[in-house]
Amino acid sequence: MSVIKTLEWTDAGVRFIDQTKLPTEEVYVTCKTYEEVANAIKTMIVRGAPAIGVSAAMGIALGVRDSKAQTADELAPELERICKVIGATRPTAVNLFWAIRRMQGKFAQLRDKPVAEIKRQMVAEAQRMHVEDIAANEAMGKHGAVLLPSRGSVLTHCNAGALCAAGYGTALGVIRAAVESGKQIHVFADETRPFLQGARLTAWELMKDNIPTTLISDNMAGAIMRQGKINAVVVGADRIAANGDVANKIGTYTVAILAKEHGIPFYVAAPISTVDLETPDGSKIPIEQRASTEVTHMAGKQIAPDGVVVENPAFDVTPHEYVAAIITERGVARAPYAESLKSLVEAD
Ligand code: MRU
Repeated sequence: MSVIKTLEWTDAGVRFIDQTKLPTEEVYVTCKTYEEVANAIKTMIVRGAPAIGVSAAMGIALGVRDSKAQTADELAPELERICKVIGATRPTAVNLFWAIRRMQGKFAQLRDKPVAEIKRQMVAEAQRMHVEDIAANEAMGKHGAVLLPSRGSVLTHCNAGALCAAGYGTALGVIRAAVESGKQIHVFADETRPFLQGARLTAWELMKDNIPTTLISDNMAGAIMRQGKINAVVVGADRIAANGDVANKIGTYTVAILAKEHGIPFYVAAPISTVDLETPDGSKIPIEQRASTEVTHMAGKQIAPDGVVVENPAFDVTPHEYVAAIITERGVARAPYAESLKSLVEAD
């Protein structure tokens, strides 16, 4: 399997593969300040819920490391400012807020230590989150691989691969683990309008690993399911509410309904950091609205009339009734999710 370095800590700053340039250019950018990291999250140089979480932690660590504060008391309000900037980037992926809370908690533990020690440990915490994320994805892969057929096709939406995380991937991690265990899996990747994460990122990532992949436009999924070509659907998540409702890339809800209609299991793979027990159900999940140009333009070329009214919600919510199982690093949750998710979260 190829090793894709989605993001990494370096002494010069946080280094990202620029996902806005893939698949035609494989270029890397190094963000040297926390403001640059915030901008990389906002502009989707880095994207995908777990990757956003780890990037946020590394951005905070960078801001703390480069602070001129002499004491923890001087550093505290600065940390709050850094967290505010990082927290204002993308609203839906709860991993962002989970990462901020974890870094704030770490600072609180270190409050009586010398500033140099605080800086060192904050950087180490962000690096630990990077390592933990990859381990979580690998564990998720093992739990999820058994759910896939020994030979068959799996449809996925958006990019829930190594590029959406510190590495390995959530939904694609499950597919990778199934392939590693000897299963013969063919992937159907939805192109994922309007930002085309499926066409640009999932197809690129799976081809790099020689996993057989067919790219389809989003509106082909129903017909392909009806032809009996899909055995399972696996997607990622940006936030899972306490009752099991799942926010994920716009178009996921449509895929879930199609899957139910055709009797195909619809699985969600996500780390525990994506489960938000404080949000009771999907109606309370904030949905990011993005620029209308993502819809009116493709690869910089205008495809819609000037001045057309556009809606561009980046995510939708799939009600829990459509979800056959939620695969996490701590095991597989099934309905009733209010109970199964709570016990996995509390199994820490
Ligand atoms: O807007 P994006 O590209 O950040 O959206 C990403 C998704 O919707 C992914 O499916 C989700 O983050 C899960 S990735 C593990």
